[in-house]
Amino acid sequence: MRDSPVAGPGRRLLVTGGAGFIGSCFVREILGRRDGTRVTVLDKLTYAGNRANLAAIETDPEQASRFRFVHGDIAAPDVVGPLVAEADAVVNFAAETHVDRSILEPEAFLATGVVGVHVLLEACRAEAADGGLRPAPRLVQVSTDEVYGSVANGHARETDPLAPRSPYSAAKAAGDLLVGSYFATFGLDVVITRGSNTYGPFQHPEKLIPLFLTNALDDQPLPLYGDGLQRRDWLYVADHALAVEHVLIHGAAGEIYNIPGDTERTNREVVGLLLEELGKPWSLVRQVEDRPGHDWRYAMDGARLQALGWRNRTDFREGLASTVAWFRDNEPWWRACKSGDWTAYYDRQYGSRLANGLLVAELAAGDDVSSR
Ligand code: NAD
Ligand code: DAU
Repeated sequence: MRDSPVAGPGRRLLVTGGAGFIGSCFVREILGRRDGTRVTVLDKLTYAGNRANLAAIETDPEQASRFRFVHGDIAAPDVVGPLVAEADAVVNFAAETHVDRSILEPEAFLATGVVGVHVLLEACRAEAADGGLRPAPRLVQVSTDEVYGSVANGHARETDPLAPRSPYSAAKAAGDLLVGSYFATFGLDVVITRGSNTYGPFQHPEKLIPLFLTNALDDQPLPLYGDGLQRRDWLYVADHALAVEHVLIHGAAGEIYNIPGDTERTNREVVGLLLEELGKPWSLVRQVEDRPGHDWRYAMDGARLQALGWRNRTDFREGLASTVAWFRDNEPWWRACKSGDWTAYYDRQYGSRLANGLLVAELAAGDDVSSR
């Protein structure tokens, strides 16, 4: 474990992107422990950022006393500099995160994923150069399995070459490379995590599971891309968030840690399980035009994180059941996400796809939901 106060009571964390899906889970988990940790969230509140995700903290006087929210952009040095200066560690969740949106409008992905990460690194470098008594903050860059590209066979290791294929994953890969370069060149205390497909409460309903879940609750069609046999590895959000904290505390400087979910499924399998959990029929599913450049499979090796002592806790069926229960119980939350600009986005993304969509036969032979 490091000597600097990334683990002990009284540590001060700067959590960027902390009003989003995984970042807010990280903040709720850590502040909910009531161990004295102080958290500042810096968030731009894009369409994906939501103060409501932090409401449980802001309405609890003890947690609220250790919490501060700053509305701002990680690409703004004047905002970032003073916040980094007072932090023991920076955990960067901030990013544009939806692959489909990166195909429609890539610019914001580069602004946050590349320029924003660079601004965070420069702020950490300024602290390291300061030569004060306090060590410069550790930076955890929260990255993704998508940087490895589509993995035909086996499982990607941290040492594998990067092969991103969407503007989203290319921006994330560029961020990772910048972070690595600041370790090699300036000796900054940085670590990178690469998580797999994450699901759970508070996920914006643009992503597969919450989109299909909320559409199905409204008996609306479920737009399955292509043949639906693409494979993803599903990770429950609290496991992802706590694995990031584990790496913050125990990870070696300059290292990368994969966070697999150990739950590889085809999209058809996921949709089948979700509909079963909801008690909704497969006839809602439409086969629609595929995502351009759609990665067929993601899969990562988790040995390095396991060696650090980490184990995921949530089984996929249990995680899916609690996700469905949460969305059933929190309808105003997801209806608000699906209002305003949502209609124009949905129309642009799915309008012509759904107009030409086909009914899909239920699970193909050999596509066994009980496998793995
Ligand atoms: P999200 O889209 O739910 O939240 C992203 C948050 O970042 C939002 O609150 C948004 O307002 C904020 N943000 C965006 N640009 C910003 C900027 N310039 N400055 C400050 N804040 C900004 O994302 P998520 O799903 O919680 O993902 C969090 C991180 O985890 C991302 O870096 C993503 O690449 C990574 N990741 C996500 C998954 C997944 O399946 N969701 C898997 C692996 C890795
Ligand atoms: O793997 C980690 C990544 O997982 C994260 O880095 C990204 O931020 C996160 O968005 C997610 O990316 P994916 O593209 O894998 O997730 P998404 O939920 O968009 O899609 C999951 C799969 O479902 C993918 O094969 C595309 C398919 N899909 C998705 C949508 C939204 C559909 O078939 N129909 C849809 O409408």
